[in-house]
Amino acid sequence: MSVTRRAHAKLNVFLHVVGARDDGYHEIETVILPLELHDVVRAEAADEFTVTVSGARAGELARAGGEALVDSAARAWAHETGRASPDAAIAVDKRIPVAAGLGGGSADAAATIRVLDELHRTDLSTETLLGIAAAVGSDVPALLLGGPVYADGRGDRVTPVHAQTTAWVVVPASFAVRTPDAYRWWDARAESGPDPGAVIAALEAGNDEILGPAIFNDLQFAVAARHPEISDTIAALLDAGALGAVMSGSGPTVVALARHLAHADQIAQAVPGAFVTSGPPRTMGPPSGVV
Ligand code: C5P
Repeated sequence: MSVTRRAHAKLNVFLHVVGARDDGYHEIETVILPLELHDVVRAEAADEFTVTVSGARAGELARAGGEALVDSAARAWAHETGRASPDAAIAVDKRIPVAAGLGGGSADAAATIRVLDELHRTDLSTETLLGIAAAVGSDVPALLLGGPVYADGRGDRVTPVHAQTTAWVVVPASFAVRTPDAYRWWDARAESGPDPGAVIAALEAGNDEILGPAIFNDLQFAVAARHPEISDTIAALLDAGALGAVMSGSGPTVVALARHLAHADQIAQAVPGAFVTSGPPRTMGPPSGVV
């Protein structure tokens, strides 16, 4: 008996930092778009709880400290259901770049909660699943819900939004950025940009010409000040014809909007290390697509 799900990466089409909170987090307003790019998470009933990782990015993940979020998601699910252990062998096929601002670890954690709920037929309510997700990490509820969302609070309060399919060029960096560092660097300036209204309206309408210049990330200035490669990559993508380009989440991955997949391919050829994906995933369906 096993259950397998796709764990979709995300990008932040918009991220506005409202301000620092007393609990060590920051109040944010963000628009999260899940992507076709995905890991695969499989849970098989087992007496002993294990997590194994394979796939193209497994080595990268091991160097970054392993799948800690999968471990804590499985334990949080077990705790919620009154079990001593998740009673499962979890296997992750890792394809999403690690510590990149693409939500790979959070996506795996969200998929872990889903596959355990299905494997053990606990049939928890969406509200309970979201509560488990929020305890694991700020991005996990958005990725558990699946589909594009507007998120506020520390990113854990999620509201579905409608989005037409958009084509993206993704450029991972050769270095990682830790999320707490990105927020700490923002604190030094504490300047905030616009609100997300224009981005949400453009996503809903599928208006790429308006969406391109409206994509935005308050953390970008702070991270790019330490890592000028980010600004260089954005400039290269815009030179190659992207409608807009921005750092995703806490970075350092840069994402750029294209008119369609063929246009994205053309832009990607001009920027070393770039690849093409789209979002939201066609295969997703509610809530996140059984493989
Ligand atoms: O929620 P998560 O564990 O992913 O957050 C990691 C760290 O990133 C937090 O401990 C905090 O330092 C920072 N963070 C933040 N504000 C947010 C989300 C994360 O300051 N909204």
